[in-house]
Amino acid sequence: MKGNKIFLKFFSIWFYLLMQVHWWKQISNVCKTDADCGQGLNCFQCAAANATAPPICTRSLATPVSSFNTTLPFNQYAWITTHNSYAIEGVDPGLSTFNLAPRNQEDSVTSQLNNGVRGLMLDMYDFMNDIWLCHSYQGECYNFTAISPVNGTLTAIATFLAANPTEVVSIFIEDYVHATNGLTNAFTKAGLMKYMFPLAKMPPDGGNWPTLDSMIASNERLLVFSSIESKQATEGIAYQWNFVVENQYGSLLQNCPNRGESQPMNSLSRSLVLENYFPSGPNESFACVDNSADLLNVLGVCHTAAGNRWSNFVAVDFYMRCTGGGVFEAVDELNGELECGCTDIHYCKAGNARGVCVQSAPAPVGPRSPVPVTSASPTPGAASSPESNAAASLYSSTSFMSLTLCLAILLIRH
Ligand SMILES: *[C@@H]1O[C@H](CO)[C@@H](O)[C@H](O)[C@H]1NC(C)=O
Ligand SMILES: *[C@@H]1O[C@H](CO)[C@@H](O)[C@H](O)[C@H]1NC(C)=O
Ligand SMILES: *[C@@H]1O[C@H](CO)[C@@H](O)[C@H](O)[C@H]1NC(C)=O
Ligand SMILES: *[C@@H]1O[C@H](CO)[C@@H](O)[C@H](O)[C@H]1NC(C)=O
Ligand SMILES: *[C@@H]1O[C@H](CO)[C@@H](O)[C@H](O)[C@H]1NC(C)=O
Repeated sequence: MKGNKIFLKFFSIWFYLLMQVHWWKQISNVCKTDADCGQGLNCFQCAAANATAPPICTRSLATPVSSFNTTLPFNQYAWITTHNSYAIEGVDPGLSTFNLAPRNQEDSVTSQLNNGVRGLMLDMYDFMNDIWLCHSYQGECYNFTAISPVNGTLTAIATFLAANPTEVVSIFIEDYVHATNGLTNAFTKAGLMKYMFPLAKMPPDGGNWPTLDSMIASNERLLVFSSIESKQATEGIAYQWNFVVENQYGSLLQNCPNRGESQPMNSLSRSLVLENYFPSGPNESFACVDNSADLLNVLGVCHTAAGNRWSNFVAVDFYMRCTGGGVFEAVDELNGELECGCTDIHYCKAGNARGVCVQSAPAPVGPRSPVPVTSASPTPGAASSPESNAAASLYSSTSFMSLTLCLAILLIRH
């Protein structure tokens, strides 16, 4: 039967093409919309870097913990951290005609977590008989500086931890809460107490932390640090400056001096290193420049300043904005150095001795798939992911349909 043979021939060609063609674009490929780009990439134009260059696919997803060797102490991993994670564009409690709080991020905390952010910087205040996330001054939250009640964000974190049992999240609280047991009550209400990594297990003298896999096994997957020292004694909440060194934010391209509250960067009595890389006032259009080559250069500067220690947390504004790999590439580099002494986590190979690296080309990214739904109640200002997912499936189904149509036409002509 001639017709059947032709059909088979074309079917196999079509199937071969289906398997081979990457119609989803790779990192740095020119694109028009997010839907053009493969999994973990956004279509983005960094006009501050080059106003005439077209948009390209840039990274928006961290390398997952599943690709790490999780047997190392927690202080041998690096995590993307969002500065003022809660200060999200479009989130406004409507308490004032003008809300003066600056915005540092553009997607919800749920979306940040889904994209691989594992460090959250949250400013908490007593406000309206509750605790609020607020970007204010002199320790006082006002109607025109308030952003949202804290429980929405804490509940989002609890939902994420429940849905992702191998993930560890760290919270750095710029703490202005003076209500008795205020933080404990808020964490309890959000269902987060059961995940709290206990103060008693934190190394007080700069020693190694428990291993990542042991933290996962004991389900103690939430680290909370407060900027108020007395909360260690009253609520068992770690005083950040007992455990973390941090460089001065604001002055970029710097030599990585410590910020005032922190011990010097090279104080080995603090075993976690946090690198701030954002300007004093958020600069949305310029963030893609800050978060790219400049950030990658400063990793080495901070490594030297911190007494030859690679940073564990890299805190940025508008974390998805970059000219290619951005903060995602920065933590891949840090994790490579920390885990196996190679310049990228992808160059580490199980069983290799430290410093023995595999220099393979990165695997091509696959087609877009819907972002895993881990929150029944997304925080306000959620990313446009539902739209882009719809667009993505429409895009792939149109590609599929046009191919099938071409085939049908070819078959009919035969
Ligand atoms: C900006 O992009 C355009 C178009 O891709 C290119 O021709 C030009 O060389 C770029 N300019 C710089 C300074 O990289
Ligand atoms: C702040 O907002 C609350 C809730 O809308 C309102 O009750 C209160 O009067 C406002 N405070 C000021 C100082 O405007
Ligand atoms: C936060 O708390 C308020 C007041 O208790 C409640 O109305 C609201 O539903 C809570 N939001 C979440 C996400 O739990
Ligand atoms: C953002 O940074 C650029 C480059 O430093 C500067 O020209 C611009 O004025 C800044 N914008 C804001 C809003 O600060
Ligand atoms: C993980 O790291 C530990 C400590 O360096 C090493 O002993 C172990 O072999 C590594 N495991 C894998 C699978 O590479």
